[in-house]
This record gives sequence, structure tokens and C-alpha cells, in this order.
Amino acid sequence: MPRNIVITGFMGTGKSTIGRILAQKLGYDFIDMDALIEDRQGRTIREIFEREGESYFRQLESDLCRELAGWWRYVIATGGGTLTNPENLAVFRAKNLVICLDCDPEILWLRLSASEDRPMLDSADKKARLLALLAQRQPAYAKIEHHIDTTHRNVEAIVAEARALWEWGR
Ligand code: S3P
Repeated sequence: MPRNIVITGFMGTGKSTIGRILAQKLGYDFIDMDALIEDRQGRTIREIFEREGESYFRQLESDLCRELAGWWRYVIATGGGTLTNPENLAVFRAKNLVICLDCDPEILWLRLSASEDRPMLDSADKKARLLALLAQRQPAYAKIEHHIDTTHRNVEAIVAEARALWEWGR
């Protein structure tokens, strides 16, 4: 039986929303990796990127993946870039159910256009940046076994599909 459920996918796909509700339904605890990194560091993701650089943040992420992969009965929402690192995916895939949330790029843009707290989207042309990053990451997301399309679907339906994957894998 897998240890934890790991919810991943691009920024704005609803990882934290879906993960939190799924955890409630299953009676598991919920962990948002970005929030845990911010708590432990005592600063925001944007501050970490600006003061230490992206590679420092990626190292924090990788260390946290190794730590969390050994926990039990958590629903874990990753950051959007976490599992595009094949080593992080391998760490979770060994004993956890990993689910990738997919979403139409235009809907992602609607959700992310006003967001100020995502340093990976910093650009004069934020939409072009989003589309380029999504395209660049697509091959990495494609390596994840389970996907749920969230486009035009309500939260309940998405949570139910994730739950079915979990029940099926037990
Ligand atoms: C990132 C996504 C963010 C956060 C950081 C980097 C990325 O998480 O981890 O800003 O590289 O896609 P969300 O997907 O929760 O926004």
C-alpha cells in the first residue's frame, strides 16, 4: 500500500485546494510543501528566490521530498516544479501514489495572470513565460503515471477521481 498521496502539476492547477479536501475526506493530514518551506525558512518563496537564488530553493525542495517520502498517511501538495526533477519523482514514486493535475493553458493563465508570488513567472510577457515553461515541463509531467484533467471540472469531481485512484491502489 502506498504511504502518501502526492499531488503535483503546474502552477495554478489546484494542487493545494484538491490536496486539502482530499486529506479531509480521507482523514489524513495535509502538507503543502511550499508552505512548509516558508514556515521553516521564516520567509516567503519569493524572498528565498530573490536572496538565495532558484538553485537554493530547488535544494530545499529536494531535501523535503526525501524527508516526506518516508512519512505515512499524508496528502502532500508539491510546488509546480518539484517533480520535474526526475530524482524527486523517483523518491516519491517508490512508495507513494503520485497524481499530476492537468489543466488547459488558457485557464491557467486566467488563474495566474494576477499572481505576484510566483517568481518563476516573472517576465515582461508573463503569459508567454507561462506557456513556454509549461511546454518545457510537459515531458517531465508526462512521466508521471496518474493524471487528472481538471479543465472545466469542479473540485468534488476531481477529488473523487483522486480518491478512486487511492482506493484502487490500496
Ligand atoms: C514553482 C511553483 C510554485 C513554487 C515556486 C516554484 C515552479 O508552487 O514552488 O514558486 O517552479 O513551478 P505552486 O505550483 O504551488 O505555485
